[in-house]
Amino acid sequence: MRFAPLVHYAELSVAVAFGLALANTDSAGSLVVRNEGQNSLLTCSRSGAQELDNVHWDPVESYSYQNTSSVVPGPWVIDRDIIRMVGKLSIEEKVGQMSQIQVGQVIGCDGKLNESMVEHWINKWKVGSFLETPGNHDGEFSWYSPENFADVTDTVQRIALKTGPKLPIIWGLDSVRGANYVKGGTIFPSGTSTAATFNQQLAYEAGRIAAKDTRAAGVHWSFAPVLDLSVNKLWSRTYENFGEDPYLSSQMSSASVKGFQGDYKHDRSRVAACLKHFIGYGYPFDGSDRANRHIATHELLEYYVPPFQAAIDAGSATAMESYGVVNGEAVMLSHYYLTQLLRKQMGFAGLLVTDWAEINSQADIYATARNRTHATQIALQRTSVDMSMVADDESFMQATVDLVKNGAISEARLDESVARILQLKKDLGLFDSPFADKALAETVGSLQDVEAARDTARESITLLKNDKGVLPLSKSDRVLFIGPTLNSTRYMGGGWNVHWTGPSDEEGDAVYQGFGDTVIKGVEQVTGAAPKYMKAVDINGTGFVDIDKVIAAAKDADKIVIGLGENSYAENSGNIDGLLLPQKQLDLVSILASKAKKPIAVVLIEGRPRRLGNVPKLADAILDAYLPGAYGGLPIAEILYGKVNPSGRLPITYPATEAQASSTIWQSSYVDYRPQWPFGFGLGYSKLKYSNVTLSSNTLKMGSPITAKLTVTNHGPYPQKEPVQLYTHQHYRVGYAPDLYRLRAFEKVDLGVGESKTISLKLSAEELAFWDRNLRKRVEPAPVTVAINPFTQMDIHAVVELEADPEYVLDEADY
Ligand SMILES: *[C@@H]1O[C@H](CO)[C@@H](O)[C@H](O)[C@H]1NC(C)=O
Ligand SMILES: *[C@@H]1O[C@H](CO)[C@@H](O)[C@H](O)[C@H]1NC(C)=O
Ligand SMILES: *[C@@H]1O[C@H](CO)[C@@H](O)[C@H](O)[C@H]1NC(C)=O
Ligand SMILES: *[C@@H]1O[C@H](CO)[C@@H](O)[C@H](O)[C@H]1NC(C)=O
Ligand SMILES: *[C@@H]1O[C@H](CO)[C@@H](O)[C@H](O)[C@H]1NC(C)=O
Ligand SMILES: *[C@@H]1O[C@H](CO)[C@@H](O)[C@H](O)[C@H]1NC(C)=O
Repeated sequence: MRFAPLVHYAELSVAVAFGLALANTDSAGSLVVRNEGQNSLLTCSRSGAQELDNVHWDPVESYSYQNTSSVVPGPWVIDRDIIRMVGKLSIEEKVGQMSQIQVGQVIGCDGKLNESMVEHWINKWKVGSFLETPGNHDGEFSWYSPENFADVTDTVQRIALKTGPKLPIIWGLDSVRGANYVKGGTIFPSGTSTAATFNQQLAYEAGRIAAKDTRAAGVHWSFAPVLDLSVNKLWSRTYENFGEDPYLSSQMSSASVKGFQGDYKHDRSRVAACLKHFIGYGYPFDGSDRANRHIATHELLEYYVPPFQAAIDAGSATAMESYGVVNGEAVMLSHYYLTQLLRKQMGFAGLLVTDWAEINSQADIYATARNRTHATQIALQRTSVDMSMVADDESFMQATVDLVKNGAISEARLDESVARILQLKKDLGLFDSPFADKALAETVGSLQDVEAARDTARESITLLKNDKGVLPLSKSDRVLFIGPTLNSTRYMGGGWNVHWTGPSDEEGDAVYQGFGDTVIKGVEQVTGAAPKYMKAVDINGTGFVDIDKVIAAAKDADKIVIGLGENSYAENSGNIDGLLLPQKQLDLVSILASKAKKPIAVVLIEGRPRRLGNVPKLADAILDAYLPGAYGGLPIAEILYGKVNPSGRLPITYPATEAQASSTIWQSSYVDYRPQWPFGFGLGYSKLKYSNVTLSSNTLKMGSPITAKLTVTNHGPYPQKEPVQLYTHQHYRVGYAPDLYRLRAFEKVDLGVGESKTISLKLSAEELAFWDRNLRKRVEPAPVTVAINPFTQMDIHAVVELEADPEYVLDEADY
């Protein structure tokens, strides 16, 4: 809808194609729109209503696993048998291997897998890959148990193995925070939360468990981790990423890829990871999803590339390109982004897949190609793309076969891609064990995994304000809990959770069938009694519920806990015009502050840092829980009552004004940085002291890193985890405004009451190198402030002299 005015300028045919494209895009997550791609086989009159999948299983409480965190070599080698296999395929079969079709195309009008539709795609079009969950595409069940999901994937596999070249299919799924589309698969907090923990081990575990639960459903490939930088905070995909900082994101990226993949060439409980979305997705100019981005290439290399490089270095087997247009150029058709940068400069040798319908979208949405065939031709000629997530029709297959037959595309171009695809299938064991492993299903939802998800929530929740010791609550306090987010599992989950945009309000929490718990359930577990709870305001902020009763109850309480936040959304459905939370939610806080005059603690459950109006002044305590996932209820309650001491730190800048929507910790230092709360900020309940801070040298030279050493002491009264963060700020940089701060190292230490620990953090001159506009990576000598936790009370600084030859080039990019 937002593109509607363009229709006035477009040719009629383009406008029509455009409408279809939007319908396709929407159907990616809609529960009622089915197979409306122009070439779908069926038009069903079924309403699209789905059933609860009532398969029950008793997950084992714990299980052992193979723990590999080293990098598995590859995907850099193509085996001889794979090359021979490619040589035996027909053009049609090669093109089929390069095609990925969404599962809705094989779901019949009864909501069940329709085998004759599977045969259509595999016999006629030789399709070698499918994606997505039927639960997003009018399948029988709203959320598929491992058993029923595997029934679908195994049936498709069986058909593939008896048809044509008898090659196994590879199935891809957005298991972005645990296997969020597999019922009972342990749903983890979103990427922002993972980053807020400042604990890479939790990113590893989230990846490992997501992989196992995904594989239990007969799915071999996870479209994760999501590695965009969340720069414009209006962006609806902010929550999916590891925050705004290149270093923090890179650390999480590497751990996550290793978690997903483990030793994926041998370990059949792992899946292929997919670094996405390459590249520059996180700075849409107006904050709307897919909007074009203006990021100078040297800035792209400086900030946006490192998390992707970290994923490549960690061995990521696959990559996905990004929607839309960067610097005026469609990423999908860009030789520079997808071949020069990704393959040649960054050394990515794995399988590159498009995002949803992205080749067709060149003609249908972005007006960067004349028609779909034209888009296919340019994509194959200019880029190294291996697989098209088509996802709803035969356009790619038809066009590519024609293009090869008429000589526009060489068969060798196909061979290159097909070899990478078949090598991945081999590496994942699909030639030997193509079917789901039933034994894995028994571990899905095990307590061990649920505790890992809760640990991520426990370590991510960030205390932003705590005046007059309002928190932690005491069991003897009479507390009134209010606000829609405190009695909801789905608002804690947000998008990419059960369904693409999360469960709807109409569907409600019932869809979880017990896989998760709300905050008030968590409070009941912690205190032993059901708390007094009132909804008070609608999640959409459209109206109050029983406000007079709420005020009366508040007057009667010792303390008030108010849950504010966002309804769930994904991609376009999360577009907003401003950062302010719905007004009635904010009004609720001011009404209670003025009428009840009791201490107020606010819990934020939100996918992006929404502006809070007067709330930061009116509330005595504020906790940001981000999107803690279905198992977030207990951790939030534990933190409210001091059973767990908060140790999360903001992985993003929390804006105070609309104008700060794109403020980051790494913005130029001469620009005011006065956000609501800065990057890296967060409090705990204990009193910590930093002492004996030393630097091993006060000069920083290439090739000789220096060490910052310091002692942290916990003076209690609670055990405390503390992320020690080391930042640099260069005092000047000839011709290039230096960043306010750059995070260079961190370590999370765990301190008992009265305990001290000494830690060392390294810093090298090479880390202070930056990309200049000639795409050369250089170091400019200057004084540099080294700062420990600059945004907390522990602010500790020292100045070192960065000594370097400004002409020396560490790296050079070839545009
Ligand atoms: C798995 O490997 C990680 C990373 O090296 C390590 O921190 C973790 O303790 C290991 N877990 C087990 C169960 O061995
Ligand atoms: C299954 O697909 C075929 C077309 O391939 C169609 O004729 C049939 O009606 C479909 N069955 C259902 C239940 O949708
Ligand atoms: C699609 O675009 C190509 C390349 O510009 C052109 O040759 C072809 O005629 C177009 N096809 C249709 C159906 O318009
Ligand atoms: C919490 O929400 C559920 C619906 O998900 C509702 O049945 C229940 O009554 C609510 N609890 C309270 C205490 O309002
Ligand atoms: C909130 O708004 C959305 C989008 O308009 C709507 O689908 C949903 O039902 C509303 N929820 C409530 C609780 O009113
Ligand atoms: C700091 O160093 C001094 C001298 O080495 C030592 O006596 C003191 O215990 C240290 N303080 C802490 C908190 O470790």
